[in-house]
Amino acid sequence: MLVTSKAILEASLQAYKKGQPFAIGAYNVNNMEQMQGIMMAAQEKKAPIIAQVSRGALKYAQDKYLINIIKSAAELAPEVPVAIHLDHGNSFETVKRAIDLGCTSVMIDGSLMEDSKTPSTFEYNVKVTSEVVKYAHDRGVTVEGELGTLGGIEDGVGSGQTHLTDPDEAVEFVERTGVDALAISIGTSHGAFKFKGEAKLAYDIIEKIRKLLPDTYLVSHGSSSVPAELVDQINKYGGKLEHAQGVPLEALKKAIAYGINKINVDTDIRLAATAAVRQFLVEHPEKFDPREYLKVSREAIANEIKKRMDAFGTGGHITDVPNWGLEEMKARY
Ligand code: G3H
Ligand code: 13P
Ligand code: ZN
Repeated sequence: MLVTSKAILEASLQAYKKGQPFAIGAYNVNNMEQMQGIMMAAQEKKAPIIAQVSRGALKYAQDKYLINIIKSAAELAPEVPVAIHLDHGNSFETVKRAIDLGCTSVMIDGSLMEDSKTPSTFEYNVKVTSEVVKYAHDRGVTVEGELGTLGGIEDGVGSGQTHLTDPDEAVEFVERTGVDALAISIGTSHGAFKFKGEAKLAYDIIEKIRKLLPDTYLVSHGSSSVPAELVDQINKYGGKLEHAQGVPLEALKKAIAYGINKINVDTDIRLAATAAVRQFLVEHPEKFDPREYLKVSREAIANEIKKRMDAFGTGGHITDVPNWGLEEMKARY
């Protein structure tokens, strides 16, 4: 069932308010097998999901292909609430195209300029985000903004500098833009190399923002946990990943307890797929049918996502999500 991400995130926010917090995983999708793996996990765990597409993914797969794969997945599993979300939209035009193609949720990342590298000013961020909110809300589409900048650079996304989100600025930003969800910088970064030493998150920032903005959905980007067993599996079968480190699942559980509602995961899906394909090809050098190794990668993705759903507490929550599609939301905004 295709819904807006507001419908899904509202279930998480209400649960937090009742003292039983859980979060929604937002999983990046680049191809059919990844989406199928995510859906296998969602169906087994009875978990709502946000399927998100980056600009890189839309370019790789051709945008219409990718969005229609997600739409098909939602149609084939009517019991699972699925939102199609644009990840790190960089301009009004990118967002408009995503909405026209059927995204029920968009992110405008105005923390960076259109090149997705240069940090922007607060005023620029407010301006571009407000324009997107107006266009999106008129069409029932949910909007995520970002304030503060994450460290790390992943395929051209990120400035390499970290600025943790200022709670008072977050209040002004949400009031002036009207965003539904806010990505906050709490010490995470994109990619497989997040920390040099111990993983540290700024829980105090989540706590302050949650108190000041009780009705805004809070988002943690760069939240892959980079499991050591996947890194070891990749290295064992010919890969070379050194010093990879992610956010431990225990740290994410704590962030959820402080009020995070949406957790973005991309790198873990890449690691699971690569580890499975590497092992399969080394163990079966005679095989050359892509369906055989892509099937193995799909299963590895599903397994990894099930672990996230358990850690985030998402399982069993499909019935808590109201059936808010675009028409329903248009009437609400
Ligand atoms: O935020 C970055 C995501 O991991 C997407 O990365 O642009 O390489 O698809 P990508
Ligand atoms: P990871 O690189 O930690 O998976 O983060 C993904 C992300 O934040 C996508 O927006
Ligand atoms: Zn991100």
